[in-house]
Amino acid sequence: MTDVANQPPAEGDDRKVLTTRQGHPVADNQNQRTVGARGPATLENYQFLEKMSHFDRERIPERVVHARGTTSFGYFEAYGTVGGEPIAEYTRAKLFQEKGKRTKTAVRFSTVAGGRDSSEAVRDPRGFAVKFYTEDGNWDLVGNNLGVFFLRDAIKFPDFIHSQKPDPVTFERQVANRVFDFVSQSPEALHMITLVFSPRGIPASYRTMQGFGVNTYRWINARGETKLIKYHWLPKQGVKSWTAADAAAVQAEELGYHTLELRAAIDRGDYPEWELNVQMMSDEEHPELDFDPLDDTKVWPENEFPLMPVGRMVLDQNVSNFFAENEQIAFGTGVLVDGLDFSDDKMLVGRTFSYSDTQRYRVGPNYLQLPVNSPATPPRTNQRDGQMAYYVDEGGENPHVNYEPSITGGLREDQAPYPDEIGPEITGRVTRQRIPLTADYKQAGERYLLSQPWEQDDLVANLVDALSQCDRAIQERMVWHWYLAEDELGQRVGDGIGISLDEIKGLKPLQSQTLTEEDEQRLANLGHNGPRDVSGLVMTHCVPNEHEDKVGDPVS
Ligand code: HEM
Repeated sequence: MTDVANQPPAEGDDRKVLTTRQGHPVADNQNQRTVGARGPATLENYQFLEKMSHFDRERIPERVVHARGTTSFGYFEAYGTVGGEPIAEYTRAKLFQEKGKRTKTAVRFSTVAGGRDSSEAVRDPRGFAVKFYTEDGNWDLVGNNLGVFFLRDAIKFPDFIHSQKPDPVTFERQVANRVFDFVSQSPEALHMITLVFSPRGIPASYRTMQGFGVNTYRWINARGETKLIKYHWLPKQGVKSWTAADAAAVQAEELGYHTLELRAAIDRGDYPEWELNVQMMSDEEHPELDFDPLDDTKVWPENEFPLMPVGRMVLDQNVSNFFAENEQIAFGTGVLVDGLDFSDDKMLVGRTFSYSDTQRYRVGPNYLQLPVNSPATPPRTNQRDGQMAYYVDEGGENPHVNYEPSITGGLREDQAPYPDEIGPEITGRVTRQRIPLTADYKQAGERYLLSQPWEQDDLVANLVDALSQCDRAIQERMVWHWYLAEDELGQRVGDGIGISLDEIKGLKPLQSQTLTEEDEQRLANLGHNGPRDVSGLVMTHCVPNEHEDKVGDPVS
């Protein structure tokens, strides 16, 4: 006997009934089983225990980075060509070959530093991760919206992220001193900082930002020949950004504006679209370049390495369950299909370990069995069991054989259809050294000079604002770095925080730093080098950036 269980449904109420996870109909979801109406509760109360203990486990560890994000689905449509030639000349990856061929995609956009419920209007790079469910299995292109990264060696990543996260003692957030303490001692971050502190560090919407693979990859054709490749996504919607004032106005009213905005656009049929372009370089060392093509703190100048379109992507479907398809989706840089490969970029190699490692912890060892992660073609492995195993693998004809090799059945190996790749041979001593050609300042300075005037002003204002909150030693070192990048930027930031050229020009290079010959010359002449020559230079951000003013009308 209960208060509600013997009540009939209201007239015309033909909804399905609630059940427990065991499939038992639930007759009373309002009252626990108790001894008498006033308690105490009984321990054999299965329905209550199941409900409460499942609730207690509703959260999985959030991503250690990129915790705040949103996923949409769509398709990639191949052009079949690259640079006017059949694409098969350069890659045998099946998804690219035929003009008009469509492959289902999932895209997760994200911020980096904040927790799962943090504001989406923060200054931060944005993640742009694409999963292609191809006929050869999944391909993940896990990139960002800015084209470069802060670091070039994966071993620095945990320290860098700690500098971005709240203070471990006070849990204060976004402490500029922590960030610039790290950056002042890691000059390879300078190029990325000129982007993150520009308006491009706060996109107006996920639909109006570029995307980049950032790290250098390889393509392989049917003959085994390889090329170095960089990926670029160009939004049909154009590039639009906010200033700190716009972001503050939006954030005051809505923390999840970008998720809502993307979802609403897809709901009303205004499907966002990006064109995928690649840059290509011969797969060898390039001593003629003034940067290392495997260095992810650098872009490849587009006037020398033109963008070549290979297809387009349209997002036309929202998630049907945010947790299942956004929290549990798992991308990784190791997830490639035949015809696509890694480069030797040591950052990329480090990332490739990290993603699936964290996902085995965060989601569980069987994370690839979840529908959103599982490939379009059925996986057939001899991997078995483990936490939350949902037996989905197709076995061979003899299901008893879950090992290989065997003459009694089971699965066989594929026959490699192509010759070994004919990439460069690598020799070298086992060592711990940074790449010889660091060139930490040149592209940072060039980027400043090529930015639009409103972007330059905003960059200076944002740097002055952040550096004003830093210790004097950090401020001095940062002004010294900016002068090495570009005189005008050094002077404007220095003026803004009250540090003159005379006060910093005596600083010695960091002990850990290797300056290029050009850097040495600039240092000898600090503050008097004149503007760099950027005539004819085209960099990733040369797509115009429109200011979307939100101050008067934050959440329209
Ligand atoms: C050594 C450097 C890096 C390491 C160790 C690293 C590690 C990680 C880890 C552990 C996650 C969380 C994954 C998860 O829980 O599912 C993550 C997410 C992500 N990372 Fe990195 N990362 C690195 C560099 C980069 C770079 C250079 C980019 C951009 C080009 C990038 C883009 C992303 C994106 C977009 C996500 C979010 C994926 C999603 O939406 O689920 N990361 N990274």
